[in-house]
Amino acid sequence: MVQFTRSFLSLCLIAASFAGPTKRTVAQVEADIASISTQVNALDDLIEGFPASGILGASALPAEMALLGAALNTGTSDIKATGPLDEADATTILNAVQQVIQPVISVTLAQLNGIASHLLDDAEFKASVVSALQNLQTSIDAFVAALAAAAPVDLTAEAISIQIAIDAAFNKTIAALS
Ligand SMILES: *[C@@H]1O[C@H](CO)[C@@H](O)[C@H](O)[C@H]1NC(C)=O
Repeated sequence: MVQFTRSFLSLCLIAASFAGPTKRTVAQVEADIASISTQVNALDDLIEGFPASGILGASALPAEMALLGAALNTGTSDIKATGPLDEADATTILNAVQQVIQPVISVTLAQLNGIASHLLDDAEFKASVVSALQNLQTSIDAFVAALAAAAPVDLTAEAISIQIAIDAAFNKTIAALS
């Protein structure tokens, strides 16, 4: 899964670099997407390490979520600084989000859901995970909203449907932990 998503992303970025001259800022957004993808996979690996990774693995969760949030916040700033995206760039970026980032986030959240009752019986720790998840949801919402605003109007609906799917997964996981 992780290998596949990484190679897929590389293919997207290679395809984008051959697609024609891209603005420097679009290349930055694409680099941001690559680091977001790396952080999503790192969070997924951490959660897949349960329950073997035990308390140590669990205690790393909020920090790992914060790293992903920081990568998303950088992406949001760069999208806003880039301004309107053309059809080709917006499609490349949306495809990377839809095919690489969104599925791994959904799987990761579903796994967290599944292990919640086993690992998170410490109320204080559970609250810190919920708070980290809420911050992460805010970051990813802002990221997809910035993308929706920068994309041509024919791609807005697609961006919003990604946002709704991600939000639904977060809501479900936060509800399971709360
Ligand atoms: C997620 O929860 C928020 C806050 O309760 C709500 O506004 C939003 O509509 C929910 N989104 C989905 C997709 O369920």
